[in-house]
Amino acid sequence: MDEEKAFLDLKEKILRDRGLDVNQYKENYLKRRIAVRMRALQLNSYSEYIEVLTKDKKEYISLFDKLTINVTQFFRDPEVFVAFENEILPDILTKNEKKEIRVWSAGCSSGEEPYSIAMSIEEAKEKIGLKDLKYEIYGTDIDDDALSSAIKGKYNIKTMENIATLRRNKYFEKINDTTYLISEKIKKNIKFIKANLMEPFKINFFDIVFCRNVIIYFIKDLQKKVLQYFYDSLKDEGILILGKTETMLLSFRDKFKCINLRERIFKKEKD
Ligand SMILES: C[S@@+](CC[C@H](N)C(=O)[O-])C[C@H]1O[C@@H](n2cnc3c(N)ncnc32)[C@H](O)[C@@H]1O
Repeated sequence: MDEEKAFLDLKEKILRDRGLDVNQYKENYLKRRIAVRMRALQLNSYSEYIEVLTKDKKEYISLFDKLTINVTQFFRDPEVFVAFENEILPDILTKNEKKEIRVWSAGCSSGEEPYSIAMSIEEAKEKIGLKDLKYEIYGTDIDDDALSSAIKGKYNIKTMENIATLRRNKYFEKINDTTYLISEKIKKNIKFIKANLMEPFKINFFDIVFCRNVIIYFIKDLQKKVLQYFYDSLKDEGILILGKTETMLLSFRDKFKCINLRERIFKKEKD
């Protein structure tokens, strides 16, 4: 079979079987990633790879491990963390004098996002004077490698350029000139769990959900499904924070009220 035609068939198959529109990945990137799996399985054509995916559904796990884009950073888009720390958190924490909050970092990659959230919560706790506040952050992802880096909590200085020196000294242990380890004080509040966003996670459980730079890779139908799961996972008036380039689907605008358009911050409307 013509390889270009087989490549189209393969993309359609992934969409049909798993709802992931891989057309959203750049073609060269996609071909390189698929080639890694084909080499590992000693296959020479896309049609052979289609056969493997048909016979062995587990191959999707290995393929998705290779496909997912894990790029992340501490305090990625710093402005959103400024709004989170100075507006969203004080509002949530002082209302009803909360004693505990739960946050979900959905698609947490190698942990920089949930650790940044934890640092912001620590800082807000100090500023507001809520020393006894407890918090729990769930970092979930489908990528095993990303999760095991997150659990290690060891980072190269290059990914830390958005962290102010004061915070770096406060929340990290210096291993050497280029490597830092996240402190136990932060780490103990975070649970890293392997979970697929295409399946429901928790119900009426979280005060805040971060899902940034993840659903942009999903087709509309899948985005709808995932946004509904986020809605279900949040408590009433819970907060959803999307990525800078992600938009709320029209059909969800009566479920999530936009409270900060620039930073893509939404509040769950009561049922
Ligand atoms: C670009 S990273 C974003 C990391 C972080 N949220 C940020 O904004 O810096 C996207 C992450 O989403 C994860 N991901 C992609 N599809 C997923 C799915 N169906 N379920 C769970 N995680 C997924 C990838 O493994 C990857 O680690």
